[in-house]
Amino acid sequence: MRAVIGVALNNLAVLAAASYAHSKFDWASISPSKDLIYHDCFDGFKCARLIAPLDYKNDSDLRTVAIAMIKLPAVVSDDDPAFAGSVFTNPGGPGGAGVGFMLRAGKGLRDVLDKPGLRHYEIVSFDPRGIGNSWPRANCFVQDTLRRDAISLELRGRGPLNGRGGTNVPYILAIQKAIGLRCQAVDANGINGGQIMAYMGTPNVARDMVHMVDKIADLRARDAVDRKSGGDHGKDLVELKREMNREDDDIPRLQYIGYSYGTVLGIYFASLFPARIGRIALDGVVDVNDYSSGPGWMTNLVDTDEIADRFFSGCHEVGRKTCALSRNGDESDASIKNRVYSWLSKLDEEPISTIGHTDEIIIIRSQDIREMLGAALYRPRSSFITLAAALDDAMGRDTAAIVKILFQRHIPHLDDDCAIDNIDLDSEAYLQEGTSSVLCADGDSVSDYDIA
Ligand SMILES: *[C@@H]1O[C@H](CO)[C@@H](O)[C@H](O)[C@H]1NC(C)=O
Repeated sequence: MRAVIGVALNNLAVLAAASYAHSKFDWASISPSKDLIYHDCFDGFKCARLIAPLDYKNDSDLRTVAIAMIKLPAVVSDDDPAFAGSVFTNPGGPGGAGVGFMLRAGKGLRDVLDKPGLRHYEIVSFDPRGIGNSWPRANCFVQDTLRRDAISLELRGRGPLNGRGGTNVPYILAIQKAIGLRCQAVDANGINGGQIMAYMGTPNVARDMVHMVDKIADLRARDAVDRKSGGDHGKDLVELKREMNREDDDIPRLQYIGYSYGTVLGIYFASLFPARIGRIALDGVVDVNDYSSGPGWMTNLVDTDEIADRFFSGCHEVGRKTCALSRNGDESDASIKNRVYSWLSKLDEEPISTIGHTDEIIIIRSQDIREMLGAALYRPRSSFITLAAALDDAMGRDTAAIVKILFQRHIPHLDDDCAIDNIDLDSEAYLQEGTSSVLCADGDSVSDYDIA
């Protein structure tokens, strides 16, 4: 996936961190198991660490991974006639953690999918191999968040790829190569639980989903037998299947809903394991041909400018009561757009200097605002109004709201860097090297490309 270097590299540390309140859960309190064993976790969820082969292509390779799974149970029990099975979900990325996504969005998703009284689903997600709470974890800065944040700040300070008269491309590429060297060393030494980065490609993740679907079916069969026999475990699997009336061709199938890169995962799954598809829904669809065998990202952004225009036209439509950037005398959305872009041009000449709430030194450049707008385009409904208010404040010299957004997404929290294990893995925060490992495994090598 060639163009990704240009897209992703200014946010080494944290691409997205949603804040939501939930209880903590200590994943280390669960021992990884070959059969699926759920444990209570968070509030009303079930968690498991399922063992899977590291390398599905090599039977004599005995190394394994432990996949962090999370389930939101159905509102009916498994033997209720309205129970409609598991729906897997993946939030995207690549590199997005299913656990954090489930805590934030699982209940809403279940509400949308359920047909009350007729069909009730349990929702299942997982941190894909190498990501989040799955083990080993792709992490090139193990207990070294200060260095992660230092290089992240250097990248931020360097500015956009097209900045500094073209000299930024070779410099930023060199930084990425150096990070790559560090990742290579960390992964080779298995510092973070073992080798993982070469095994994180999407076909492996799809294969993990087959594994999980099978293990869920096994568990359900065991539970059904338990219910019948009142806990008599003395039955082998053949007998158990007969009892369940499962025909030989009645293989467990996937029900799935994926978003963004999660659509890539869904399409890879359908392509690799067509006989294992039950139902599949894809939302926010990535052009998978471009992703898998094209230059990457050449077609996925075709509508982006249009959505950016909707930021201004929508603002003009709803007016000042809802959109702070609007003014009563505006003739059209162009009036708003021109105001914002001429302010951005001024920022190019003269960035804003300010101080954060714990006295951090902060420079706000037009690039920061452009990145914020770019990020908002991904979630117009939840971010346009807030962003408009923050921009309106900043254009009136009150930068508090903009600074808050910067700290959510773009500037590392150095205050936390002295804690020993300071990456909050329950959150949706995810590591750039997780994303890169998947993309590099899926795409053609670009290591022989020259700067031009
Ligand atoms: C398969 O795994 C074995 C044991 O780790 C290893 O010796 C062998 O080189 C592997 N084969 C391939 C093709 O990678």
